[in-house]
Amino acid sequence: MGNCWFLQKPTKLEVKKNSSDKKEKDEETKEEGSKLPTNPKEVEDLRRDAANPLIAFTFQELKNITENFRQDSILGVGGFGSVYKGVIYNNVIRKEEENKLVSIMGAEPVEVAIKVHDGDKSLQGHREWLAEVLVLGQLSHPNLVKLVGYCCEDQQRVLIYEYMALSSVEKKLFTKVLAPLSWAIRMKIALGAAKGLAFLHGAKQPIIFRDFKTSNILLDQEYNAKLSDFGLAKDGPVGDASHVSTRIMGTHGYAAPEYIMTGHLTAWSDVYTFGVVLLELLTGRKSLDKDQPVREQSLIEWALPVLMDKKKLLNIIDPRLEGNYPIKGVKKAAILACHCLNRNSKARPMMRDIVDSLEPLQLPIELSNTAIS
Ligand SMILES: Nc1ncnc2c1ncn2[C@@H]1O[C@H](COP(=O)(O)OP(=O)(O)OP(=O)(O)O)[C@@H](O)[C@H]1O
Ligand SMILES: [Mg+2]
Repeated sequence: MGNCWFLQKPTKLEVKKNSSDKKEKDEETKEEGSKLPTNPKEVEDLRRDAANPLIAFTFQELKNITENFRQDSILGVGGFGSVYKGVIYNNVIRKEEENKLVSIMGAEPVEVAIKVHDGDKSLQGHREWLAEVLVLGQLSHPNLVKLVGYCCEDQQRVLIYEYMALSSVEKKLFTKVLAPLSWAIRMKIALGAAKGLAFLHGAKQPIIFRDFKTSNILLDQEYNAKLSDFGLAKDGPVGDASHVSTRIMGTHGYAAPEYIMTGHLTAWSDVYTFGVVLLELLTGRKSLDKDQPVREQSLIEWALPVLMDKKKLLNIIDPRLEGNYPIKGVKKAAILACHCLNRNSKARPMMRDIVDSLEPLQLPIELSNTAIS
């Protein structure tokens, strides 16, 4: 989450649109800004028809759950703020919430990840927080991370998620200290993430994720992939509309070229970013990597010309796999990535077709031989 222009690691993307779109942009900002709630009651009013019950935590409860936001319980830091690990025991929740908590999570203590807004009071942070509560708070799918609750108290804006034991694909894929992810796990991750996106795109009111990348794909103990961070998610076009117009946001190295050029957002923008992530899984390289020689820093520019070249393809597959992959499966995955990265957006496959293409590439997984957090 977060919306930073030229920070460290893959930077967030927010490009101003041309002047003819300015009114649209101003209205988008004004409309969203005017809706921002200031307390749990206002949040629940906005969530009136939402399917999932969420717990409205007080900030004091979150302090108890995280033992006063202990530094050694930090799971990671993103653009929105720090993420802490915590455990919820029923007795730390207010009495009147007890029944609600039990009905959501059962009687056992529950591990959670607590994402705390860093308090810069930016409108953007509050808007992303609200989008996460409204969008994720009404969706439920095995490949979307579960939102357990939120805190909306004074200036505090916090999101509480189910805890994902193996953290993010980014941390597992690009690590230099852990054993590399096996081919079978990479294909399992690709399929899980594809199912998550297919679910969003196929919803009655389609949703475009807009910020698909390895750090927003979280992994549970069995390497089930779950999408997180819906702060930039946007309702997709409905009826005859071909696209929705938005401020251009996302992360450098992942966004589709036509989206950067025009700000026109379609489900195919997500398909392009899926192709980038699939390429990262195949090569073990980041979409933008300043540590590589200049000509290899952009993964797309380096790898795309080789994807359909049967002779050269294996030269770009992650060397850490040491050839432990089925060559036919690699070729099929490479062709799929190539289709997703087609510059002509309408020639890209739909997410449900991508799911179908990835199903036959699945292999049994030896969890005992893999990198554990
Ligand atoms: N539900 C969760 N369970 C376990 N770890 C989590 C969870 N959510 C986030 N994390 C950890 O916290 C880190 C930071 O997450 P966060 O979404 O704030 O930032 P990011 O995805 O790295 O970057 P960005 O701000 O661009 O989204 C993640 O990389 C992950 O390791
Ligand atoms: Mg994230």
